[in-house]
Amino acid sequence: MSRKIHVEILDDAEAVGRKAAARILAVVERKPEAVLGLATGSTPIPAYRELVKLAHERKVSFAGVKTFNLDEYLGLSGSHPQSYRQYMNRYLFEHLDIPLWQTALPDGAASDPEAECAAFEARIRAAGGVDLWLLGIGSNGHIGFNEPGAPRDCRTRVASLAPSTIEASAKDFGGAAGVPRQALTAGVATILEAREILLLATGAGKAPAVAGALEGPITPQLPASYLQAHPSCAFVLDRAAASKLVKP
Ligand code: F6R
Repeated sequence: MSRKIHVEILDDAEAVGRKAAARILAVVERKPEAVLGLATGSTPIPAYRELVKLAHERKVSFAGVKTFNLDEYLGLSGSHPQSYRQYMNRYLFEHLDIPLWQTALPDGAASDPEAECAAFEARIRAAGGVDLWLLGIGSNGHIGFNEPGAPRDCRTRVASLAPSTIEASAKDFGGAAGVPRQALTAGVATILEAREILLLATGAGKAPAVAGALEGPITPQLPASYLQAHPSCAFVLDRAAASKLVKP
């Protein structure tokens, strides 16, 4: 089987971060008004750290860049310490010259979440679509909060978190009971419309999901497998995350 997704296997999470940062910076250097799709979680932290460093070293401005994040917990306002808005400000936006109004996350505290999701989609369209979307992957194969079962054509919406996702977030909320049960998330179709996709995975816990996404069938049971149909998608993995690939 010839694989359409480009796979790169590097030594460790830091190397994955460096690779991702270099790719993102190259997009912005080529197109100063680039539209970036971004993710939160532990995986992209080294990438954001390196991106900030590189942007300063090479004096690359993000003043014309627009960003769209995958998701936000339902019920959390952007000022909540565990909100993804706070995460993005802390790890990336505060350290770049990007105006905050050019950075978009779905508003978890919107009075009408459905309308908020529709507005988020409209905002992506108005920006001309996403040039590069950076993704992580859940140990259950989710992308964004598109959990197993999410259809290929779903768009930005309110989605329920899978039990394993709640478990994975428990440490950030003082236990599983404190984790919001739902989130606003860009849909599978929303993500697949990006012109380029860069998925990062590090650690052995991701190895089964990575192997399924790359070498298994395209199935709603493993939403990252939908990426096999994307014309320009790369997975950048550390050795541990690649350890269950049959054809690395
Ligand atoms: C984050 C997101 C999630 C994470 C995934 C992996 O915005 O949408 O899909 O990418 O849960 O999370 P980490 O990197 O913490 O293992």
